[in-house]
Amino acid sequence: MESFSLEGRTALVTGGNSGIGRAIVRLFAAHGASIGISHIGDAAGAQTLADELGANGTRVATTECDVTDAASVARLGAWGRERLGAVDILVNAAGISGETSFVDLSIDEWDRMMAVNLRGTFLVTKQFFADMIARKYGRVINIASQLAYKGTHDMAHYCASKAGVVGFTRALSYEGAPHGVTVNAIAPGPVETAMLASFTDAWRAMKFSQLPAGRFGESDEIAPTALLLASETGGAYFIGQTLSPNGGDVML
Ligand SMILES: NC(=O)c1ccc[n+]([C@@H]2O[C@H](COP(=O)([O-])OP(=O)(O)OC[C@H]3O[C@@H](n4cnc5c(N)ncnc54)[C@H](O)[C@@H]3O)[C@@H](O)[C@H]2O)c1
Repeated sequence: MESFSLEGRTALVTGGNSGIGRAIVRLFAAHGASIGISHIGDAAGAQTLADELGANGTRVATTECDVTDAASVARLGAWGRERLGAVDILVNAAGISGETSFVDLSIDEWDRMMAVNLRGTFLVTKQFFADMIARKYGRVINIASQLAYKGTHDMAHYCASKAGVVGFTRALSYEGAPHGVTVNAIAPGPVETAMLASFTDAWRAMKFSQLPAGRFGESDEIAPTALLLASETGGAYFIGQTLSPNGGDVML
């Protein structure tokens, strides 16, 4: 079997309608996967992407889900099992960010960040993990951030949530690995998406100046790492890892 083929596999990508998630969806489809795209409030964007993939022969379906909401995620699980069949590959790409100094950070902002980035990853993974274990095959890929390691000012809530994702990934990998289910993460550096565009010019300039690569990254430079982790052969021996396409912002 070709190392990076996803033929016969089905992948569900939360936040698959935009940014890094969308690049992953396109690359997975190009490598033969059937695709589920979960979005929030972007039915048109998700459908446009689905139409693009469908025109190229990919089996694709879209649905809306708020990853913070247990009932909504339960509906995503039911939808996935009914419309997609077995979900072999789950990518938790849905996420939010925010820039607020710790002194000004409200409890609501903290809770919201944790709800989307950490609770969302937990809730969605919980919907599909047991089935993967039962089928003795699965790939869970969580999108963390290099800021989980490096930290930065005005983003204590974001950095804490992403460090939580790294820890969750490591811990869950112990429960998946004996059953053929790998759990890994990706910690991208700054990537030109709507999220990065939402940062202040001052933060972007500060981050830009720290990058050995001398530029921000592109979503298409992150997706191949997801393909590696998702693939049957190439990804099989990555267990609990967090891989770091990050422009050199963090070197581990
Ligand atoms: N862009 C970067 O510089 C960068 C760097 C490191 C990590 N990341 C991470 O990559 C992931 C994708 O971000 P992106 O940069 O592509 O930005 P993006 O804004 O394009 O994508 C984020 C996606 O998450 C979805 N989302 C937000 N809240 C949600 C909710 N409650 N329920 C369901 N979906 C929700 C959004 O609708 C969107 O589709 C995020 O987890 C982000 O933290 C991004």
